[in-house]
Amino acid sequence: QLPPRVRIHEVGARDGLQNEQSVVPTEVKAEFIHRLADAGLTTVEATSFVHPKWVPQLADAERLFPLLGDLQDVRLPVLVPNERGLERALALGAHRVAVFASATESFAKANLNRTVDEALAMFDPVVTRAREQRMHVRGYLSMCFGDPWEGPVPVEQVVHVCRALLDMGCDELSLGDTIGVATPGHVAALLTALNEAEVPTDRIGVHFHDTYGQALANTLAALRHGVTTVDASAGGLGGCPYAKSATGNLATEDLVWMLHGLGIDTGVDLGRLCATSAWMAGHLGRPSPSRTVRALTHQ
Ligand code: HMG
Ligand code: MG
Repeated sequence: QLPPRVRIHEVGARDGLQNEQSVVPTEVKAEFIHRLADAGLTTVEATSFVHPKWVPQLADAERLFPLLGDLQDVRLPVLVPNERGLERALALGAHRVAVFASATESFAKANLNRTVDEALAMFDPVVTRAREQRMHVRGYLSMCFGDPWEGPVPVEQVVHVCRALLDMGCDELSLGDTIGVATPGHVAALLTALNEAEVPTDRIGVHFHDTYGQALANTLAALRHGVTTVDASAGGLGGCPYAKSATGNLATEDLVWMLHGLGIDTGVDLGRLCATSAWMAGHLGRPSPSRTVRALTHQ
């Protein structure tokens, strides 16, 4: 049984761009986000309020966010790792934030300079305060399937951190396959385990990177388990600067092609979206890795 509609959580402007070596001008990022909204995407992750030295590409968050003020009907979540990040987001009037935990110790250290538990302790006051401010809080969980240092990640370990994020007050979870090693059977096993741990499926999103070409198959497995929120990145941009083996996210266009083919509504205009990714590829100086973008724009 497949859902009639899927909500796409577009991460191109954040996950997609955070790994780009050459700095993309703030005005180009703002136009990218406007074009994504024009293509019908209703949730467009905008940027991160992290330490500028850790992610230099997103150091312009304070200049970018005000350029999005006219996008009243679009959800514009931002990443915040700590109270300092939340303060920066609050000062700009953000309504939605995301904290980002790790299922493994190695990645918690590499990405947040903390142990798994120390990172959760860092997020706890962030989530509490964000909820007091009536913000929506997403809890990302990285390395849900495999980790470049630790190998395959046991399902119980993932369920444990998911529970911690929900108990802390996160409204929604996003299960990250940060390095793109998941396969559909593993996705099904994790979702079954979360179901047994009484994590409501309507609070789970999936976040697949496409390193091994499995992202679409994994998404379909998740849809069959009742998931209706799927993260994707326009043009397949992306990666994580703190996980070397990570490549781009599932391309939004590839996702939309599959969903529309299945008769699942997304609200996205695929032609406009492909044109946006082709335009962005022009700025980045290389063609989009998305098969659908290439097929539809003759790149
Ligand atoms: P730290 O070095 O341990 O920082 O980094 P600290 O807490 O010790 O603070 C040191 C200094 O940084 C202080 O300044 C703070 O004020 C400042 P000082 O007193 O020395 O002058 N500082 C900040 N400044 C601006 N904004 C802030 C901030 N926080 C502290 N928010 C920290 C810890 C968490 C800050 C750092 O590790 C960090 O910024 N990490 C972010 C890494 C990141 O963004 N990674 C990519 C996103 S995650 C991802 O891509 C995965 C995902 O897509 C899902 C998936 O695919 O799995 C979501
Ligand atoms: Mg990611």
